[in-house]
Amino acid sequence: MLRTHTCGQLRPEHVGQECTLCGWVETIRDHGGTVFFDLRDRYGKTQVVVSPEEGQELLQQAQGLRAEYVVQVQGVVALRPPGTENPKLATGQVELRARKIQLLNRSLPPPVAPGLKELPSEEVRLRYRYLDLRRPAMQEVLVLRHRMTKLMRDYFDELGFLEIETPMLGRSTPEGARDYLVPSRIHPGKFYALPQSPQLYKQILMIAGYDRYVQVARCFRDEDLRADRQPEFTQLDLEMAFVEMEDVMEVIDGLVARLARELLGLEVSLPLPRLTYDEVMQRYGDDAPDLRYGMELQDITSLAQQSNFQVFRQVVEQGGVVRGLCVPGGAAHYSRKGIDELTVFVQQDFGAKGLAWFRVEEGGKLNSPIAKNFPPSLQQKIAQQLSAQPGDLLLFVAGDFDLTCRALAGVRKRVAGELGLVPRDKMHFAWVVEFPLFHWNDEEKRWEANHHPFTAPRPQDIPYLETEPGRCRALAYDLVINGSEAGGGTIRIHDPELQKRVFQVLGISPEQAQERFGFLLEALSYGAPPHGGIALGLDRWVMLFSGRENIREVIAFPKTQRAVDLMTGAPGPVDPRQLRELHIQVQLPPK
Ligand code: AMO
Ligand code: AMP
Repeated sequence: MLRTHTCGQLRPEHVGQECTLCGWVETIRDHGGTVFFDLRDRYGKTQVVVSPEEGQELLQQAQGLRAEYVVQVQGVVALRPPGTENPKLATGQVELRARKIQLLNRSLPPPVAPGLKELPSEEVRLRYRYLDLRRPAMQEVLVLRHRMTKLMRDYFDELGFLEIETPMLGRSTPEGARDYLVPSRIHPGKFYALPQSPQLYKQILMIAGYDRYVQVARCFRDEDLRADRQPEFTQLDLEMAFVEMEDVMEVIDGLVARLARELLGLEVSLPLPRLTYDEVMQRYGDDAPDLRYGMELQDITSLAQQSNFQVFRQVVEQGGVVRGLCVPGGAAHYSRKGIDELTVFVQQDFGAKGLAWFRVEEGGKLNSPIAKNFPPSLQQKIAQQLSAQPGDLLLFVAGDFDLTCRALAGVRKRVAGELGLVPRDKMHFAWVVEFPLFHWNDEEKRWEANHHPFTAPRPQDIPYLETEPGRCRALAYDLVINGSEAGGGTIRIHDPELQKRVFQVLGISPEQAQERFGFLLEALSYGAPPHGGIALGLDRWVMLFSGRENIREVIAFPKTQRAVDLMTGAPGPVDPRQLRELHIQVQLPPK
């Protein structure tokens, strides 16, 4: 080893010892002939002192050091002089008095580095990710990620799960996104699809008798990226045979409790709350609501009908609803301009016609340009239903139920952020269950699977599969952490006949089903056990447990919003010879 200790290791007990550290140079200070610098590695920082007494040669050598140079320093550990200790540093009571410095490597002036005061743009950080990853904030996250993954693996190992790898090169597994395709050289014109998830393989493993499977699995989805989505991400994926919904949820409950305890020192009481889809849509308008704060939605349709406000009355006459929420203390916070911005927000982002609002005054009196359409007694009833206090702001959207859900969920989130109502230090875990099995795609005029087409309906809904698909609920469960969909799973269909019926509802013809999932249908007919499972979005878990706001902050080498790796330049052009071998001709769109 080129070192005797790490840069985070030295303490007063080492005083007097001769030791050798290796690391990167940070913050060099020259104090009248004595040179100080911090030596850093991933374990910490140690102050190095080079005093003139050690000779001019060593001093000059130290004066020649620059940020991010790599050095080996041999010296003696000493207590820092009283008053110069640094309580913020684990090694802050001591320093290393250098006797010998060996320059191991130089560095160009770093565009991003731990010692720089200003964090450059994300573009620069991603371009020079190896420098960005030297920053303690990034190291902390990657350490947490390692610990979380290890805790997960240990937990499932204790429960008898086997980690089994599934192929990257395979057939398309439908999870609702576009596939990343890989051309086959040996079979011209044919393609592998990178897995959107190991879904089909894990079901096959259940049929193969491996009744408890788990995998830290890479998944690939070509979809629009957001702050919590990457084209390439990691799932903690699992599947179990001979189980019902509750069994899978119970296993994950236990995992949540263990991770919260080990990583955050939090005691979570079990079972985690289970809310139905209908309930969360009523109360929050969102199937992954942030339950760390209230501001629940209220339906005032019947009161709105009694008003003289034409906008509301018309919507209700056409079968729509009027729903809203009460923003505590919102009257003073939102000026007319602020309310106008909220109105534009619900119109542009969710297609609402408008946003009706009232400031609440003493005695449940409502103040707004439209208040004259609401007699005083009606105003009071509305204020009462929303438990409004003087100084609150009431916001309403009229429209069809789904629209009011989307718009008000958006308002709830935005207002909570703007008013600082989100307790950021809290963690909230909950299950959402009883999702609809299908949703109606109005553009393509067809039913689509809400999860994936292998999800089992509740047994009591099977009779309505063909006649009232919209009424069928799925044996599905999503885990929601702080308003983020952190995991989702279902009980699967294990009866090939039922699977065929579901394909039919989805408009997948028997030929298409045979072509795409023939192997699964066939496998199901060789003694498939009842089974189900779940996949947790590992990147999102790290994000939520580390309090980061963006998924790129928890991945060592992420892609940008445009799916580019700024460090390597991927995706890039390939050699024409490679394309020829693959029998691929590229036809670019006109500029
Ligand atoms: P689903 O598609 O819900 O289920 O994915 C499971 C979880 O993976 C995370 N996730 C993502 N994270 C980052 N970037 C993405 N692009 C991304 N897409 C999804 C989410 C999500 O809850 N095979 C099923 C699971 C099952 O039924 O067992 C599946 O993949 O946290
Ligand atoms: P208008 O009569 O269209 O000028 O609208 C009066 C107020 O009602 C404005 O504040 C609009 O933003 C609001 N409004 C219009 N349509 C709706 C709607 N569908 N839901 C809630 N508020 C609306």
